[in-house]
Amino acid sequence: MIPVVTPGGAIGILGGGQLGRMLALAAARLGLKSHIFCPPGDNPGTHVCDAITLAEYDDSAACDRFASSVDVATYEFENIPLACVERIASRVAVRPGIGALRISQDRLHEKDFIRQLNIATAPYTAVDHAGELSRAAAEIGFPAILKTRRLGYDGRGQVALRGPDDLAGAWEKAGGAPCILEGKVDFAREISVVAARGGDDAIACYDPPENTHRDGILDISRVPADITVEIAAAAKALTARLLAALDYRGVIAVEWFVLKDGQLAVNEFAPRVHNSGHWTLDACAVSQFEQHIRAICGWPLGDPARHSDAEMRNLIGEEVEQWASLAAQPATALHLYGKAEARKGRKMGHVTRLFPKDGLA
Ligand SMILES: Nc1ncnc2c1ncn2[C@@H]1O[C@H](COP(=O)(O)OP(=O)(O)O)[C@@H](O)[C@H]1O
Ligand SMILES: [Mg+2]
Repeated sequence: MIPVVTPGGAIGILGGGQLGRMLALAAARLGLKSHIFCPPGDNPGTHVCDAITLAEYDDSAACDRFASSVDVATYEFENIPLACVERIASRVAVRPGIGALRISQDRLHEKDFIRQLNIATAPYTAVDHAGELSRAAAEIGFPAILKTRRLGYDGRGQVALRGPDDLAGAWEKAGGAPCILEGKVDFAREISVVAARGGDDAIACYDPPENTHRDGILDISRVPADITVEIAAAAKALTARLLAALDYRGVIAVEWFVLKDGQLAVNEFAPRVHNSGHWTLDACAVSQFEQHIRAICGWPLGDPARHSDAEMRNLIGEEVEQWASLAAQPATALHLYGKAEARKGRKMGHVTRLFPKDGLA
């Protein structure tokens, strides 16, 4: 068991993006306060929280003040510098812990960790410098994807290699930093399991959505996925194994490839709430955001059952200009993040269409 943060307590959130915003809103609904720490910029989370620290993550004095002002701290994205999180963790509980964060910050460590649990991944090998790329390609074969080990997201830091001709310049295109080379998986579909492990070690998994991507960015999450109940159950059971191995508290998202023979392989995991779980805001009594707050505060986990089937679509860049027509659609929940500028590839909001299940609507 972990100490309980009671209503009126304060949650510290590292990161001021839309995930931090939705966490702060969920905390408010439970009578908890939120304090967001992020560098200056366009930070939609800071519009809806109780306290704000605008500072760089290497500002030790700001980290210390932040840590002493909250009852528990969490993070809304995995690329917060580890030193900052370690410093905060020396003063106040950080959940999920540093271990899961450290592993997920490096694609090589992440895949090694998953393999060691006897859970499948795409074939991969480390590529520490440009000179190793041809050896790696001989080992993995084509098609393959070169990915930077650190700091990649939304398809950034990734280069597709269709054949040997694509090797020239690939290292520089990926960012010129240590990489892994992954075999391209010929999957039937992609799903994710958003799950929580609470203070009492209980685990609650939402049903896996089926995810489709456009330009490396999540486009649509649809529940239920077009998979058998056995595959859904296997994905949840393997996710539970990962959560226990990480001694995890909070919400995690594990992205899975469903292979054509029904086998499962992990793509990656995110030690946080996740875009493919946004549908839970409108289709479940307790959303992934509330579930995360409950888990890090030592509260009982909420029921992950959904009352409606759902289809969530991201509004990327100028797609957000469709807001008025989307707002007029039936059975549709519109979420806008309040970001100032609709840059290309930027997540500006999302929209969830609900399909209530018979007898429950
Ligand atoms: N090894 C792979 N085989 C097939 N598709 C892949 C592979 N790696 C990534 N992809 C595709 O690219 C998307 C983004 O890659 P991912 O590794 O999840 O990076 P990000 O951190 O940017 O989300 C995946 O959801 C999947 O559609
Ligand atoms: Mg991903």
